[in-house]
Amino acid sequence: MKNKIITANWKSNGDTNSLHNLLIPIIDFIKKKESMLKLIVVPPFVYLNQVHNIIINTNIMLGAQNVDIHSNGAFTGEISVDMLKDVHVCYVIIGHSERKIYHKESDLLISKKIQIVQNAKLIPIFCIGETEQDYKNGITNQICQKQIDSVFNVIGEKAFNNMIIAYEPVWAIGSGRTPSIDFIQDTCGHITDYILNIQNVKKKSFFIQYGGSVNESNIEKLSKVIEIDGFLIGSASLFISRFLKILTKY
Ligand code: G3P
Repeated sequence: MKNKIITANWKSNGDTNSLHNLLIPIIDFIKKKESMLKLIVVPPFVYLNQVHNIIINTNIMLGAQNVDIHSNGAFTGEISVDMLKDVHVCYVIIGHSERKIYHKESDLLISKKIQIVQNAKLIPIFCIGETEQDYKNGITNQICQKQIDSVFNVIGEKAFNNMIIAYEPVWAIGSGRTPSIDFIQDTCGHITDYILNIQNVKKKSFFIQYGGSVNESNIEKLSKVIEIDGFLIGSASLFISRFLKILTKY
């Protein structure tokens, strides 16, 4: 049976009421939909406790959008992995392109964050992908390889066991544009082959999601990509009717 993992990255959006109002119909839908669908919801840090209390009796999983590499201590404004575990987070998005753009996160820092998350027995959602210039220059695969190599160099081949890798072309995020089905298929197939080669194994022990302007209009088309196990969705997951249409069609 094909894995179906949808991650809803709510980024810096929502408030106490809107997230509650968004979750209730989603919970009702998930309870009725007998499927292999695994749903991970990723609210802003300040709403993790509230969202955990709303989803607690469902099979919806809780994720965080980032983590600091330090453990608890004199790091004003930071959130440690122990704090995430304390509020029942199971998944952590690491290396999102918005963290690289606005916080200058390096491949090395991202690799160390993945290591921190895995050492805490949480599951990283490792974001990789190319800029529009890289895409136009035809070096998408090389860019993804470089990001994968950085993790391998810090953690080794076991890093990719029990990891979600989110292929998110930076230029597709929030733009309404996505690569072609064939391009996503080829790129995600290359990511899989490259990691299996690094690990020197034949059996995939990681999952791949596609992210970047996934919505209710293109979900059926994107679902035809056999090399992916699901989607990492931003803005469309913030609207009840749009997100329910996505969940229905997937
Ligand atoms: O993390 C997923 C996000 O970057 C995609 O955003 O709004 O293009 O679905 P969006």
